[in-house]
Amino acid sequence: TYLGIDLGTSSVKSLLMDEDGKMIGSAQKEYDIIKPEQTWAEQDMHVLWKAVQETLQKLSSECTDQIKNLDGISYSGQMHGLVPLDKNGKLIRNAIIWADQRSTDAIHTIYHIIPADEYRNITLNSISTGFLVSSLIWMRMNEPQNFEKIDKVLLPKDYIRYRMTGELGTDLSDASSTLIFDNAKMDWAWNLIDRLGLKREIFVSVHESSEIAGKITTACAAETGLPVGTKVTFGGGDTIVQAIGNGLVSSGTLISNIGTASQLVTISDHAFYDPKFRTNTFCYSQRGTWLIMGANLSGGVSLKWLKNNILGMDNYDQMNKLGESAHPGSDGLLFLPYLSGERTPWNDPDARGIYFGLNLKHTKADLIRATMEGIIFNQKNSLEILKDMGISCNRILASGGGARGSLFRQLEADMFGCEVFTNKINEQGCIGAAIIAAVGCGAFKDYKEACAHIVHFSEEVTKPDPERMKLYDERFQIFRSLYPINRDLMH
Ligand code: XUL
Repeated sequence: TYLGIDLGTSSVKSLLMDEDGKMIGSAQKEYDIIKPEQTWAEQDMHVLWKAVQETLQKLSSECTDQIKNLDGISYSGQMHGLVPLDKNGKLIRNAIIWADQRSTDAIHTIYHIIPADEYRNITLNSISTGFLVSSLIWMRMNEPQNFEKIDKVLLPKDYIRYRMTGELGTDLSDASSTLIFDNAKMDWAWNLIDRLGLKREIFVSVHESSEIAGKITTACAAETGLPVGTKVTFGGGDTIVQAIGNGLVSSGTLISNIGTASQLVTISDHAFYDPKFRTNTFCYSQRGTWLIMGANLSGGVSLKWLKNNILGMDNYDQMNKLGESAHPGSDGLLFLPYLSGERTPWNDPDARGIYFGLNLKHTKADLIRATMEGIIFNQKNSLEILKDMGISCNRILASGGGARGSLFRQLEADMFGCEVFTNKINEQGCIGAAIIAAVGCGAFKDYKEACAHIVHFSEEVTKPDPERMKLYDERFQIFRSLYPINRDLMH
């Protein structure tokens, strides 16, 4: 039996899976993002650790026999965040997470010390707010008393693993997403670290996701009900681990993931990147493979915002139905989903959302449909860039919470012009993590063998409709001009 822990932004999910991929049990616990200022995003890692414990206690009491036979554990973690530890291994402050947008000045400072071109050629990415290096330099500039105390910097799931095993370390995918990592050489970018005046010792050792990181300690066993000595592997960043849970072991398929954020991802066996750095290239869970990703910051959260703050609706099924009842193209209404800035393609933390083309006939249904269309139009921006990079789109795998909505899947088919598939189980983060644990414990030779055995696709396929494809192509031209035309007004 394997345990996958998916440490997300709004909740943690823990899932037990047997060697054939059968789900044995799962538990989930939600938590909040702390926003001391409008553009800031933090989380208290004590709260996240407590939430992880609760899910594990629940699993331990509900699946006693299987927990006794637990072979291995791994993680899928929200990426990029900064968790600073002092020399006693204690948290210095709240984690500054990926959704944070406070660090524009810090990024300017970094590029002042090391020219942007030179920096990007090593990290293969452009620095964004919310990335570990940006938050770290922000801390140095704004909280020197906290910065001085730093002994180690971790990413969120690394802190949870630390609490479970007592061992420090990170994995290739999360290390590469800090933006202080040489993504082609697959090692910390020591030269950049030295030139930024950071201490080399604060960066922990980097491993493959399936490597054994340690074992469950007695203290953790008492707090969670897990057996002492269970093997724990390093795990990886969520977009990477979800891709493994989706069986992405070779290039040719694109995954459209809609969680809090949304991403369009594929993999490559060489470290290539968009020359304009509009997409992200991060290390994949297996050494020598890279994830190429269009990253959008407001995916499902746009719909959540509309549901809770504007419409006061109860659930997403209801929204999906209403959205389906509206006309394709939402009778001329377009939504630009930049509610918390945007990464691909603009890399602009100050970008903001727009509803464009409102008229007196528009209804709740149009508003919902336009919002969902906007989320997928935004992914189409990424698709165009990936195509420019020579990546073809033969089929789409819908993933994340968004994959459950039939309208999202239809919009993906119509806007991307290809068939959309889904996974039989909709918990790719946890499943991907459990697969990593299984590979790490030697149950499978590699991810390819594990995924062939565990990941199965649903028979239901969503096909594109030629008329809607044409309509959406036309609407996309207006969608993609909205930001450049309004950009200056947002700053
Ligand atoms: C990926 C990204 C988000 C977070 C959220 O680059 O920023 O997907 O990992 O979970």
